[in-house]
Amino acid sequence: MRQPLVIANWKMHGKGAFNQALVEAFLAELKEYRAQCVLCPPFVYLGQLAELLGSSDVMLGAQDCSHIAEGAYTGEVSAQMLRDCGAQWVIVGHSERRQYHQESDALVAAKLSMAQHAGLTPVLCVGETQEQREAGEAESVVKAQLLGALDDLPDLQGLAIAYEPVWAIGTGLSASPEQAQAMHAFIRDVVTDLDATNASALRLLYGGSVKAGNAAELFAQADIDGALVGGASLDADAFAAIVSAA
Ligand code: 13P
Repeated sequence: MRQPLVIANWKMHGKGAFNQALVEAFLAELKEYRAQCVLCPPFVYLGQLAELLGSSDVMLGAQDCSHIAEGAYTGEVSAQMLRDCGAQWVIVGHSERRQYHQESDALVAAKLSMAQHAGLTPVLCVGETQEQREAGEAESVVKAQLLGALDDLPDLQGLAIAYEPVWAIGTGLSASPEQAQAMHAFIRDVVTDLDATNASALRLLYGGSVKAGNAAELFAQADIDGALVGGASLDADAFAAIVSAA
């Protein structure tokens, strides 16, 4: 039985007073829930959120990490530094990093390995664009991203994978539960070929316009174990409703 996992990706949003109000309202709203829950603010707010989350069960994560351990790399933040700030999770290979920062599968693979060495649990993001889906390439694109990032990883323990179709991110146009389930089942088949021992326990999250209104039907699918939530995670009520639905 896989424990549901719901992760908030704040992206480049936040401000001191807003963060405090959001986290306090979210924690107050969150009552009965079964899911593991992680908040990923921008790097600079990790310390603030670590304090705000205090002894709650809600965990802290980052949105990216460097592929290098330490050194003269201006602007980079290492996985170990994130651990030091209280993060336990890190998102790796988000489509916005791939698109705007030209992150390759090889770079994503290096980040995954850094994250695991530092004791962080990485969440590997994969997903096709609208054009690729229309060309019938969705599965081959996702498979190439998975193999490119995971091939050298010794085993798939201590990892989660998020399927985020690029065309569903921030567009209000979520994949249907059936579309998402079909891709999740495909992803589980691909990872089974890599590591049959751990594939059935691996949590697969869906991301792309997840809202309070569509979360339950997505989570009802056999291979959807949770969500990676952007926009709706900036609204305490909406995000608490999504966590409760998981
Ligand atoms: P939205 O929930 O805003 O579509 O963003 C999804 C996402 O990119 C989460 O990482």
